[in-house]
Amino acid sequence: MLNKIINGNKIANLLKKKIKKRVIKILKKGNRPPGLAVILVGNDNSSKIYVKKKKIACKKVGYIFKCWKLIKTIKESEILKLIKKLNQDKTIDGILVQLPLPNHINTNNILYSISYKKDVDGLHPYHAGRILQNNPIIRSCAPKGIMTIIEKYNIQTHGLNAVIIGSSNIVGRPMSMELLASGCTITITNKYTKNLIYYTKHADILIVAIGKPNFINKSWIKNKAVIFDVGINKLLNGKITGDVNLNSVYKKISYITPVPGGVGPMTVVSLLDNILIAYKKYHNN
Ligand code: GUN
Repeated sequence: MLNKIINGNKIANLLKKKIKKRVIKILKKGNRPPGLAVILVGNDNSSKIYVKKKKIACKKVGYIFKCWKLIKTIKESEILKLIKKLNQDKTIDGILVQLPLPNHINTNNILYSISYKKDVDGLHPYHAGRILQNNPIIRSCAPKGIMTIIEKYNIQTHGLNAVIIGSSNIVGRPMSMELLASGCTITITNKYTKNLIYYTKHADILIVAIGKPNFINKSWIKNKAVIFDVGINKLLNGKITGDVNLNSVYKKISYITPVPGGVGPMTVVSLLDNILIAYKKYHNN
């Protein structure tokens, strides 16, 4: 029964080992290691935890990791100045601005100022556009992680109905393009969707990325559905839970990603892979 629960940690650890071997080869040839620069603005606890996970993962595979922690009230122009400097830094292959940013900052101005050659989130219009055209170079991390799970679990996607709850630039939209490319019929819902349950009940693959703890229960889903829970919600008692009530849906589903230990580690390892792609393609050939 337990094998209905997808083990994201296990796949991510195997992939990290492969990446580490590739870094060792790079170093043996006398080349510099790949490097990530992270910009963290403000004091958001979840963001701090995510950045820490990225730092641990980078160190584990032998990447350089540098982090700029900026105060919440920082001016947009100061962040732009830092990105300009990092765009030219020859030891850095990826620049990641942890989202969300404070309200006074225009997120798009920031994301678009990162050189597309260092955009390891796939959020620059160049990479987002290539994803849209089914010819990606850098793929968004959470969707890429989910597609890797689909591959590793040998889930046959042609002709399946995939429903994505949430239409963000970081998950929902790129996820829809990934699933379309894999032969699914896709539906992306948003906050104005009427009769959401109609769509979820027809979903062979259900992606939930809305940030509402335990929002989806067994009455919302189709028999044998494969569910990817992208939500990470902190409850008042400190426990972390996803957007899907795992205990409720468990009997009905084929597979589900747990929270924590499902999509989260796969997102981080996809970032590591993107950094290596940027390193090889743009900075060290
Ligand atoms: N905030 C939550 N997830 C992510 C991510 O994958 N990338 C960035 N830049 N910010 C995030």
